[in-house]
Amino acid sequence: MAKILVIGGGAMGSAFTIPCLENKNIVTITEPYSKKFINNLKSKKKFHSALKIKLPKKLKFRKFSKELLKEKFNLIVIALSLPGINFISEELKNLKNNVPILVLTKGLKYDKRKNKILTISEQILKNNKAKNISVLKGPCLAKELARKQKTKVIIANKNIQIAKKIGKLISTKYYLIEYSKDIIGVEICSAIKNIYAMIIGAGQSLNMSSSLFQKSLIEMKYLTKYFKGKEITVESLAGVGDLYVSAAGGRNSKMGSFLGKGFTFKKAKKKFMPNDTVEGEQLAKEIAPFILKKIKIKKIPLMVNLLRSLLKNKKLNLKKL
Ligand SMILES: NC(=O)c1ccc[n+]([C@@H]2O[C@H](COP(=O)([O-])OP(=O)(O)OC[C@H]3O[C@@H](n4cnc5c(N)ncnc54)[C@H](O)[C@@H]3O)[C@@H](O)[C@H]2O)c1
Repeated sequence: MAKILVIGGGAMGSAFTIPCLENKNIVTITEPYSKKFINNLKSKKKFHSALKIKLPKKLKFRKFSKELLKEKFNLIVIALSLPGINFISEELKNLKNNVPILVLTKGLKYDKRKNKILTISEQILKNNKAKNISVLKGPCLAKELARKQKTKVIIANKNIQIAKKIGKLISTKYYLIEYSKDIIGVEICSAIKNIYAMIIGAGQSLNMSSSLFQKSLIEMKYLTKYFKGKEITVESLAGVGDLYVSAAGGRNSKMGSFLGKGFTFKKAKKKFMPNDTVEGEQLAKEIAPFILKKIKIKKIPLMVNLLRSLLKNKKLNLKKL
C-alpha cells in the first residue's frame, strides 16, 4: 500500500486513480487549474463531467498548494496537459525528498534559448536535477480505463527496476503494464503520434488512411532516432499502439478529416470543434520552429506538410502526401 498523489483532475488523472485505488493504495487527487474539475472532485457525488462516471468514494481530494507537495507521498503522478508542464516543473522545486514522479502527460517542449526539443521529463529535470522521473504512455482512452476496460500501457525509466516497482503499485487485472528503458523514445513516440493521427485522419478513405499510416510509421522511426530514442520503440505500445487508437477515433484524427476535406484549421476548429483541445495542433505549433528549420522535408514530408498548413492556416496539400 502506497500513498499516491495525482496532480491533474482531468479525464486521464481521474481515470488513473481507479486502478490505483483498486490496488489498495491511498490516493489523493489535486487540481491546480480548472474550476470545473475542482467542483467535480470536491462534490459529494464525485461525478466527473468528462468521464461521465462517479469516481470512487475512497478517492481523496485536496486543494493544490505548495504545502501539499511537501507532504510525504510514495509516488507523485503528473496528469496535466502540455500547457501545465512549465507550471508544475516550477512547483516541483518544493519537493523535499526524492519521491518518484510518474508523468502521464504526452507532448514535447521547444526550448527557444537552447534551440532544442525537450521531452516532458527533460523539461521537469531542467528545474529539478536530482528527481526520480518515470513516464507512463501508450494507448489509453481515459473513458475506457475509468470503466475498467482492458488497457495495456508502458512505463519507461532508464532504471527498469524503478519502472517495475511503480508498475506493481498500479497494475490490476484490467490495467496491464509493459516496461522500457528507452524513456526518450517512449516520450517522442507518444507525442508525435498525435500529429500523425491528424495526417491519417486526412486520408478520406480507409485505403488512403492505411497508406498514410504506413508512411507515418517510417517518419516516426526517423524522428525517434533523430532525437536519440530507439527505432524499435516505434513498434511498442507508445508508438504504433498509441497511433492506432488515436487514428481510429479521437480529436486529432477528427480534425485531420476536416483538413483532408479542404478546411483550414481555424475554420474547422470554429465550425466543428470549438470547445475541443486538439493536442496534435498544440504540439505542432510548439515544435514547428525547430522541425521546419532543422529537418529536411525529404525525411519527413507528411509532418512538414502538416506543420506548414497549420502554421500558415492554409489548406493541407493532400497531393503531396
Ligand atoms: N499516459 C497515458 O496513458 C495517457 C492517456 C490519455 C491521455 N494522456 C495525456 O494526459 C494529459 C491530460 O489529458 P486529459 O485527457 O486528462 O485532458 P483534460 O483536458 O481532461 O485535462 C487536462 C488537465 O490539464 C490541466 N491543465 C490544462 N491547462 C493547464 C495550464 N495551463 N496550467 C495547469 N494545468 C492545466 C487541466 O486543469 C486538467 O487537469 C494529456 O497530455 C494527454 O495526452 C495520457
